[in-house]
Amino acid sequence: MTSTDSRFRVGLLGRGTVGAALERLLPEQASRIQSITGMRPEIAGVLTRGDGSFKEVLSASDLIVELIGGIDPAREYVLESLRAGRHVVTANKQLLSRHGEELWQTAREHGVQLRFEGAVAGVVPVIRVLQESLAGAPVDRVHGIVNGTTNFILSEMARSGITFSEALAEAQRLGYAEADPSEDVDGSDAAAKMAILARLAFDTPVHLDQVRYEGIEEIQPDDLEYARELGLGLKLIGTAERIGDALSVRVHPAFLYPGHPLATVGGPFNAVTVESESITEITMSGPGAGGPQTASAVLGDVISAMIPPSSMPATTENLEMIQDVISAFYLHLEVADEPGVLAQVAQVLALQGVSVKSVVQRGLGEQARLVMVVHPVLESRFHAAMELIAGLDVMRARPRAIRVLEEEF
Ligand SMILES: NC(=O)c1ccc[n+]([C@@H]2O[C@H](COP(=O)([O-])OP(=O)(O)OC[C@H]3O[C@@H](n4cnc5c(N)ncnc54)[C@H](OP(=O)(O)O)[C@@H]3O)[C@@H](O)[C@H]2O)c1
Repeated sequence: MTSTDSRFRVGLLGRGTVGAALERLLPEQASRIQSITGMRPEIAGVLTRGDGSFKEVLSASDLIVELIGGIDPAREYVLESLRAGRHVVTANKQLLSRHGEELWQTAREHGVQLRFEGAVAGVVPVIRVLQESLAGAPVDRVHGIVNGTTNFILSEMARSGITFSEALAEAQRLGYAEADPSEDVDGSDAAAKMAILARLAFDTPVHLDQVRYEGIEEIQPDDLEYARELGLGLKLIGTAERIGDALSVRVHPAFLYPGHPLATVGGPFNAVTVESESITEITMSGPGAGGPQTASAVLGDVISAMIPPSSMPATTENLEMIQDVISAFYLHLEVADEPGVLAQVAQVLALQGVSVKSVVQRGLGEQARLVMVVHPVLESRFHAAMELIAGLDVMRARPRAIRVLEEEF
């Protein structure tokens, strides 16, 4: 194979937030992708409003990435690309939720792929999981927080008691909301994503017009305040569920009890829970939008289109496996009820470079306990300290330790 033959030419339609991020990411990852797929991807042409010609980009490309957004001319470009035998990758939820059936049928007729991981929940791999991993599990219900803007706004309203308008202004300041946020806050953006998820989960055509949606503009700060007292959190929830022989797809604000898998998803994050009798439930969460994040989902689709389905790519690295990692620990010690015990234990810990974050002393006599949490430390150092502590005369039983997962110390 010549170097020219091993090129994989990607035509880029749109160089905005996501397109520009992909244009940066693709060359950065080209060598790694070449070692996985045997082909080196490159951007063969770019179309924007003011630059390039669609026909030229199409004829110079093996695959088209559509990142223009909206319906026209994106629909025509995608159709034309598929008819010309090109795989297409898109992140366009509006297009798929309105014209998905026409586009998927055209892809099937021409034996090419139409991939769209970036269209729902950004980089959270929910499309692939529904299409591939859960293909054997009949889905009963999909619940999703699929709009990061509204999730950020509701999180801020709950956190600091501010109004919807104040939280929206904050979202815009931080780049989580567009200058025109109407499709986010009225629920229609989430509705488009739920239409796509429902289509995948239930193998039935779902058009955006069939999705009932409400937004979050009417939510008042005191709704959140009273709910907090009741232990409830508010989210904009998309639901697609089978009810008897029918399907309901809807988006509306809803209170969740703390145990719900979506209750802890805060800020601009997205999450999708898939429920099925055979698998109980699976929840995926992560960044729902953003140029680099969505571009990485788009590039993942490009790579998938480059390799034959179900083949395991050759390894490209030979990484050393690490056994000794850094962890924080909870340490439970049954000790003699006498003065100076804590000092002895602290001295042994200090000797191994283990520092104590918190400590409680409980009980008297036979019941005397020292319970502590130590800061993250190399596990081998901690275990060495444990052995030394176990040998102290003041110990009445073997020390017990459990790792503590803590992001912030
Ligand atoms: N932004 C995100 O975080 C995000 C997340 C998930 C999915 N998406 C989806 O990804 C897609 C792209 O979003 P984006 O935020 O990157 O959009 P964007 O920043 O508005 O960029 C759109 C790009 O398309 C070009 N374009 C618009 N109309 C065109 C036309 N008629 N002919 C040729 N080019 C045209 C624009 O050209 P000019 O440069 O000349 O204006 C611009 O380069 C959308 O479908 C969006 O829903 C975005």
